[in-house]
Formats: sequence, C-alpha cells, structure tokens
Amino acid sequence: MSRKSGGGKPSGPSSRAERSSGRGQRQLRQRVRTAKGRRASSVRWLERQLNDPWVAEAKARGYRSRAAFKLLQIDEKVGLLKPGQRVVDLGAAPGGWSQVARQKVGDRGRVIGIDLLPLDPLAGVELLQLDFLDEAAPALIRERLDGPADLVLSDMAPQTSGHASTDHLRIMALAEAALDFAVEVLAPGGGFVAKVWQGGSEKELLDRLKRRFAKVRHLKPASSRPESPELFVVALGFREPGKTE
Ligand SMILES: C[S@@+](CC[C@H](N)C(=O)[O-])C[C@H]1O[C@@H](n2cnc3c(N)ncnc32)[C@H](O)[C@@H]1O
Repeated sequence: MSRKSGGGKPSGPSSRAERSSGRGQRQLRQRVRTAKGRRASSVRWLERQLNDPWVAEAKARGYRSRAAFKLLQIDEKVGLLKPGQRVVDLGAAPGGWSQVARQKVGDRGRVIGIDLLPLDPLAGVELLQLDFLDEAAPALIRERLDGPADLVLSDMAPQTSGHASTDHLRIMALAEAALDFAVEVLAPGGGFVAKVWQGGSEKELLDRLKRRFAKVRHLKPASSRPESPELFVVALGFREPGKTE
C-alpha cells in the first residue's frame, strides 16, 4: 500500500493563482474586510478561502469547488475516468467531482450525483438529493442506474463535531456504506474511490477492498490540504462478487 501525492497535469494552480498565493512571488496575505461581528472560526475559514490558490483556480476554470482538483489529480495518477463510463458520485455537492466526471466520460457516459444537500442543476449530470445512509437510498440509486456502474466515487464527509475520534468513525461509516453499495453495483473491472481520514480504523475497509479489487492504494492529492487528515482509498479492477469473499 503506497501513500503518494497526486501530481502531474493539472498538478498545481496556474501561474496566476500561484502568484496570488505568494508561491511565485512574495504577496501580502488577504484579510477578511468584514471580520467584525463574525465568529473567529468563520473569519479563519474565509481567510483560508481568500488565500487558497486552488479556490482561485477552481473559479478560473469554472469548477464549483476546489475538490474538483482532487479527482483530477487522482485520475491523473491512476487513470480512473474514461469515455462512456457510468459513474456514481456520492457526496456530490456542490458539484466539482461530478463536473470532472462528466467532462471525462462524455456524452456516451452517465454521471449520477447524490447528496444530502440540494445541488444546482449540472448539465449532463443526474442529481438525487438523498441521505446515502438512509436504508432506502442504495435501492433508489440502483433503480436510477438501471444496470451496472463502472465507478463508484465517494467524497462524502460528515459535518465535523470537533471530536476527532467521533468524526473518524463517522467518515469510516460513510466509506464502508459506499463500499457496500459499490460491491452491489460495480461491473467486473470497475473502480472505487472513497475519502477517509487517517486515524487507525481504516484497516478493516482496506482488507475488504483487497479481497474485492486487484489493486488498492492510498492517495493524498496535491490539492488536499496538508493539514487535513483526509486521504483517498483508490481501488481498481473489481472482481465479480462470489468469486473472492
Ligand atoms: C467534501 S463535500 C463533497 C465535495 C464534492 N465532491 C465536490 O467536488 O464538490 C462532502 C459532501 O458529502 C455530503 N454528505 C455527507 N454525508 C452524506 C450522506 N449521508 N448522504 C449524502 N451526502 C452526504 C455533504 O452534504 C457534502 O456535500
């Protein structure tokens, strides 16, 4: 199991964004002008957004979120997304991963985006507003899919509670549920990506993945904040159910 940074094209923000981040040349950090009356945590979040080169790059390239670069970098590293694929994007809001998936699979492919939150319509993407942990959700998605999927992607993340071990358990529950679903819908050879947080209990998930997929690895894309505990498990070459476990 290797843990490497995603990279290559598009491996970093454009030079314009790099300049605004101060990577290319020394720049003053932007401050929030309307900080008065806001909570300190909200001011910190706004400042981070204002000074984040990936946020600027996402805006420049028409992506709804900086998260789009994480999928682009994972794809660059392992060659996930191909024309004509059927993709399920779990935790899709505000839509960055779905945009990238749609660009890569093209008109012959299909992208279904699922989130608890409403998403603004996205050309060529079918959207379902659902709690994926709801008992009825997997069947509803399968019904919409009406056949096997080539890729199941999960960037789902819970609201953070500030309690690291609780948050860790919650994100692992989302990743496990995403894998349960993937095992039901993936076509042989299919792929699976899920966000996890470093913290110990992902071993069980990895063991399951290794039984079901030919290749499993961890990736930390370059656009994932270094201070964030997030990692992505990437599994390729799904083996037909019944032949392995
Ligand atoms: C990091 S964001 C996803 C960003 C998205 N991949 C993008 O590129 O724009 C995580 C998302 O997971 C969603 N989420 C968390 N728990 C969920 C659940 N139980 N069912 C569906 N979506 C969920 C959240 O609503 C949130 O929109």
